Amino acid sequence: MTLTPDHPTTEDLRARVVDQLETARRRSTVLTSVDDGDLVAQHSPLMSPLVWDLAHIGSMEELWLVREVGGREALRPEIDGLYDAFQHSRAERVELPLLTPTEARAYVAEVRDKALHVLDRHPLSGRRLEQAGFVFGMIAQHEQQHDETMLATHQLRAGGPVLAAAEPPPGRVLPAREVLVPAGPFVQGTSTEPWALDNERPAHTVTLPAYWIDAHPVTNAEYTAFVEAGGYTDPRWWSPVAWRHVQEEGLVAPRFWSRDSSGTWWRRRFGVVEPVPAAEPVVHVSFHEAAAYAAWAGRRLPTEAEWEKAARWDPEAERSRRFPWGDADPGPEHANLGQRHLQPAPVGAYPAGASPLGVEQLIGDVWEWCDSGWDPYPGFEAFPYREYSEVFFGGDYKVLRGGSFGTDAAAIRGTFRNWDHPVRRQIFAGFRCARDA
Ligand code: AVJ
Ligand code: FE
Repeated sequence: MTLTPDHPTTEDLRARVVDQLETARRRSTVLTSVDDGDLVAQHSPLMSPLVWDLAHIGSMEELWLVREVGGREALRPEIDGLYDAFQHSRAERVELPLLTPTEARAYVAEVRDKALHVLDRHPLSGRRLEQAGFVFGMIAQHEQQHDETMLATHQLRAGGPVLAAAEPPPGRVLPAREVLVPAGPFVQGTSTEPWALDNERPAHTVTLPAYWIDAHPVTNAEYTAFVEAGGYTDPRWWSPVAWRHVQEEGLVAPRFWSRDSSGTWWRRRFGVVEPVPAAEPVVHVSFHEAAAYAAWAGRRLPTEAEWEKAARWDPEAERSRRFPWGDADPGPEHANLGQRHLQPAPVGAYPAGASPLGVEQLIGDVWEWCDSGWDPYPGFEAFPYREYSEVFFGGDYKVLRGGSFGTDAAAIRGTFRNWDHPVRRQIFAGFRCARDA
């Protein structure tokens, strides 16, 4: 159950908030149900120890729901700095005097108790911050975002599997490899989605020339063809910055892949080593690898606007939808989200998630790198704090769209914008290609 842009009652809103907060906490609990040693360890310098994410989730919830909205005193003012993401880099956090796993669990439970108490008395109207439960939705999304981050930490963790999930649904052959998106205007971003974050706003009209976009993300089989064709040793496909990076890091294939002496490609996925599945979207590639593949294939990555038009524009109704399939919140039939499966689903697994033009798997499976930097929309206003989006604008970031199998339905929309450094590969990112018409 997620928020829909109609006119719910305060009681409906409260029930939605409670449901979202509880769903997020169940997931955080699963992700932190490992030995204390695993919780406090630095599994990778790219990531925080899991116990930092857990207490940081509580710290943000305390700051916004208990202190800002509830007007209560700080529970533990001395820990604020430890859990401020801007004071310590991920690599340093393991050295801090963090709450122990037992203390962190008690802290997040106490904060949640107080936050629910605040929610019980709040009319969810008045200030923009609380209007339609926005700040509560923001905190539920924040927890889910850190849950995806913790899932990426699990993927980096050495040793056997500790997480379990069902197999994704089977794939199918799509009617067409690519789809023509006609030229013309569409509405990008939103001014009406109540829990949309600041960077998704405001809605604005963008006019694009016609273009072709892939009906599905690039698969492991397709990406392997690039690898086997010597893609990683040919500077023609890489930008100068990307080529230097590939050389320096000695990159030869997506992260977590290895080739045996017979030439078979294997991958390590949450502690399991298995043959690379041909029909799944490729995952754990950087922006640079995505762009190099596209160049090799005689194509290019879509811009962010092209991605969103393909995902939201209904040419018949001449309006933008919330999701490719319409305005309904994502269900298991639409998209591979929320860690329901611990991998992308094969291409064709979600016919019910198709856009009006027949583009599939835009939501879920893998985040999709776009050929756009991280910039504000015209009319952007930071809300409720500059450090969520604004301080990153104009930096060395590329946009990612659509969410992955590790993104919860509460933390993804057709308008949702993510960003990361173009070299990052530990996130659940893949891509699809486009070309001019
Ligand atoms: C939007 C995924 C880039 O994890 O760095 C979490 C989300 N912001 N806490 C991140 C976020 C503050 C953010 N991303
Ligand atoms: Fe955070």
